[in-house]
Amino acid sequence: MNQKLDYSNLKDIVHDLKTPITSIIGFVELLKQGNHDEKSTFEFYDIILSESQKLLKLVNEILCVQKHQMESAEKTCNLNIQINRYIKELTPLALKRNIEISINSNSNDIYVSIPEDKISRILTNIIENAIKYNKEHGKVFIDIYNDKGKVFIKIRDTGIGIPENEIDKIFSKYYRSTLTQNMCIEGSGIGLAIANDIVQEYSGQIKVSSKLGEYTEFIVSFPLSHIKKF
Ligand SMILES: Nc1ncnc2c1ncn2[C@@H]1O[C@H](COP(=O)(O)OP(=O)(O)OP(=O)(O)O)[C@@H](O)[C@H]1O
Ligand SMILES: [Mg+2]
Repeated sequence: MNQKLDYSNLKDIVHDLKTPITSIIGFVELLKQGNHDEKSTFEFYDIILSESQKLLKLVNEILCVQKHQMESAEKTCNLNIQINRYIKELTPLALKRNIEISINSNSNDIYVSIPEDKISRILTNIIENAIKYNKEHGKVFIDIYNDKGKVFIKIRDTGIGIPENEIDKIFSKYYRSTLTQNMCIEGSGIGLAIANDIVQEYSGQIKVSSKLGEYTEFIVSFPLSHIKKF
């Protein structure tokens, strides 16, 4: 009964409710039968009282766990729903450059424990970059998948690419590749620095690979959330 409570397992606490309830019912039935001396009757009342107090404590713990789970759920987001929203928001920019965006996922039920505004700041910038630094009539492929307790979001474009010796620098604040600067494509060079900070904050990773004139691919990964938003 005094075991340390595991917040993820509400079932354990509910199971613990059975013992005091059974005990209370048993002692009330005994009292109803009568024929007990005064000492035993008081003992029964004491047991009923202490078992009821245990019950009340357990009920309070259940309410606490539910509150904790609801607060965690508020911070989780469904990646498919969010990414489809970002694509819609970026449609005018994609149409202007005749870029086709396709999205593919191995499940519609992929959740991460990251607030929606933060996941938006990471992915909107990477998808926007994939459009901005693409070629006219280019393509953007977005893959969302879960594997071994992690969520992966792969964003690949058919764009201008990043010079090999500059790949490591693109997460530095205000850094813009020489290619981008020569082509006079607008930007301030801070989107990826912000995205990278948020990814680190939520125990994630960003990997980049690119081939000049062919493609750039970002793979963002996070631990998978087991709590769904309800
Ligand atoms: N998909 C991509 N293809 C080619 N180059 C890219 C790509 N994504 C990022 N880069 C390079 O990395 C640089 C930094 O990107 P970042 O998003 O931080 O800044 P930005 O796009 O220039 O400006 P903003 O702060 O408005 O996002 C870009 O300027 C560009 O040179
Ligand atoms: Mg950017």
